[in-house]
Amino acid sequence: MLKVAVIGMGNIGNIHAPVYQADPLAELVAVCDILPERADRAAARYGVRAYYSVEEMLKQEQLDAVSICTAGVENGGDHFEPTMQCLEAGLHVLGEKPISNNIEQARQMVAKAEEKGVYYGINLNHRFVPPAARAKQWVEEGRLGDLLLINMTMWINNPNDTSPWFHIRALHPHSLDIMRYFCGDVVRVHAFFNRAPGRVCYSNVQVNLQFANGVVGHLTGSYDANPRHNLERCEVMGTKGRFVLNNLYEELTFYPRDSDELTVIRNSIMGGLSGFNATFTNRIHRWLEQITAGVPRDQIEASGRDGLAVQEIIEAAIRSFHSGCAEEVPVG
Ligand SMILES: NC(=O)c1ccc[n+]([C@@H]2O[C@H](COP(=O)([O-])OP(=O)(O)OC[C@H]3O[C@@H](n4cnc5c(N)ncnc54)[C@H](O)[C@@H]3O)[C@@H](O)[C@H]2O)c1
Repeated sequence: MLKVAVIGMGNIGNIHAPVYQADPLAELVAVCDILPERADRAAARYGVRAYYSVEEMLKQEQLDAVSICTAGVENGGDHFEPTMQCLEAGLHVLGEKPISNNIEQARQMVAKAEEKGVYYGINLNHRFVPPAARAKQWVEEGRLGDLLLINMTMWINNPNDTSPWFHIRALHPHSLDIMRYFCGDVVRVHAFFNRAPGRVCYSNVQVNLQFANGVVGHLTGSYDANPRHNLERCEVMGTKGRFVLNNLYEELTFYPRDSDELTVIRNSIMGGLSGFNATFTNRIHRWLEQITAGVPRDQIEASGRDGLAVQEIIEAAIRSFHSGCAEEVPVG
């Protein structure tokens, strides 16, 4: 059983911690927050030790892995320091998304995990749902034929206006990860952004993407929508048919090119996903399973490298908006 701690006991740390507690592959032993009242409250809730600094926790505890649920500027500015401390200490790290809002720091964290030979994962939880796994299986089995097109939409309501690039840097690691999950690496992008009236944040974006395998894709993103109507939609088309994965895990439909008969898989009220937080349960369990099994480090699903790859696409999209041209995406 892996000894685990959670760092950053805000909203999301308090989703990770009970998931670890309930998972048979982990033992939650400590929580850490620089705000003592948050650390203490969480420690009391989960019956574990509280720390107010990562350094102190690493001195006192024999840990195998940590979740890093800090936030900061553009929801990623605070991840670097605790991540580097934990990687340096030889711990496996599951970081929250975005891997970082600062691309140079993201690159350094991935390099540090390589150097230390530890597992580094990112909580790109949207892909850890059964219908996405089924759709991926269809792609791999060739049910869609040769892949041609992908369309992705992800829109929520977030009035946070602390930075112009908050929306694309903080939200679209998720959508771009889904796109990469089905279609692989992205090599070029061309993006347009606008702001809803009165906003500082570029709260709407349209991105065209070219993938290394020739697939052409499109992403629509917004912070000015109501996710209760529909959070996201992914459509992938190949030479033999297409699928639509609607609203994260609600419904997966296959539309064959040569027939009018559809395959429809709905989230079942009997044993289906109970809600959005179940994506955390699934993602964290897979992370624990892969560490426990000792998989080769390059097989970690939604790895630090994957987290870096989507941030590279995001930075290229921002460059494209400034230059007015399609921009290359560095592929690591
Ligand atoms: N995967 C998802 O679906 C999903 C959804 C929402 C948010 N998130 C991500 O989760 C992360 C956390 O978001 P949140 O809303 O819980 O933020 P939050 O601000 O509520 O909590 C972050 C906590 O980290 C603590 N902290 C900061 N630096 C620290 C350090 N060095 N050591 C210990 N504690 C430290 C802060 O004091 C704070 O309590 C963000 O990166 C966000 O993007 C992920």
